[in-house]
Amino acid sequence: MLVTQYFLKDLFKGKTVFVTGGGSGINLGVAKNFAALGANIAICGRSQEKLNAAAADLRAFGTKVCAVSADVRDSAALEAAFEQSKAELGAMDVLVCGAAGNFLAPAEKLSANGFKTVIDIDLLGSFNATHKAFEQLKETRGTILYISAGMAYIPHAFQVHVGAAKAGIDMMMKNIALEWGRFGIRANSIVPGSIEETEGLKRLSDPAEKEKLVAAVPLLRTGTVDDIGQLAAFLSSPLASYITGCVVVCDGGQNLPGSALFNATAELVLRAQHG
Ligand code: HXC
Ligand code: NAP
Repeated sequence: MLVTQYFLKDLFKGKTVFVTGGGSGINLGVAKNFAALGANIAICGRSQEKLNAAAADLRAFGTKVCAVSADVRDSAALEAAFEQSKAELGAMDVLVCGAAGNFLAPAEKLSANGFKTVIDIDLLGSFNATHKAFEQLKETRGTILYISAGMAYIPHAFQVHVGAAKAGIDMMMKNIALEWGRFGIRANSIVPGSIEETEGLKRLSDPAEKEKLVAAVPLLRTGTVDDIGQLAAFLSSPLASYITGCVVVCDGGQNLPGSALFNATAELVLRAQHG
């Protein structure tokens, strides 16, 4: 965990960070980075067992933790979770909307309910959290981070549901930044690249092909949950107090070879011309 080497250890002391989907993966990594910087952490997800294990990890940082089961599709459950976290930890200073669902499915085989399920968890779930967090964030002049994905702006095969959901999240983020700036609330999206040892990467890529995946990343490595946690800490800190409405990509440049086929052809032409 490198974040404490570069930020003041008490940067978020006395602050409350609520992470939806914070029981695992990237979101738990984000929560740990905030905990390392002194924040009290609230997490929600569907599995209380998973949340309890994550809470034990988070408490090891010496911070207060509230781990409460809530499905982000259930607005009332989310409201109750936010009330509980406010009662235990104080009003929310940072909301991280990270809960998401994903699977590979060819568009022609994906059922309407399959499409809707991902829209409901990712997009509607992020709206529910944003909407229910408003009063607390207004009180603290807080900040919102949405965990988006590259599918929001580059089409990926078998990800029609995810592309639509995450693109919706990024546009919602901009609307929220526009409307709630007057309350001192900032909103930004983080776009992680391929983050190692996560459920998302497990579901979407073949471990046997990892070398090829890495070779397509200009920085020649997969990302870590701490890469995302460090960015989340920066974007929520006073260092970023004039940054709102932004989609910040943290992917080692993975999105850049979008024109890979063109580039490969151009390289052949160049070689033919110049040897
Ligand atoms: C096709 C599928 C499917 C699959 C589910 N469905 N899995 N369709 N292929 N593999 C369809 C079902 O058939 C059903 O439609 C509908 O989706 C709802 O399915 P349920 O199982 O009832 O949904 P639910 O229990 O709510 O679970 C949600 C879930 C599940 C998304 C389907 O996988 C889940 O809980 N995921 C959470 C963890 C996760 O996905 N983590 C990765 C996040 S990574 P019908 O028509 O049959 O009723 C990420 C981006 C990664 O988001 C980017 C990496 C680079
Ligand atoms: P993950 O560990 O599966 O994280 C998703 C979390 O959301 C889980 O803890 C899950 O817990 C929770 N969740 C799912 N459905 C929920 C619901 N309906 N209500 C409440 N919580 C729910 O996967 P991950 O790969 O780390 O992904 C985390 C975030 O990063 C996601 O937003 C994903 O889109 C994004 N992302 C990941 C990658 C990557 O490389 N992994 C790349 C780009 C973007 P429960 O199952 O207990 O509910």
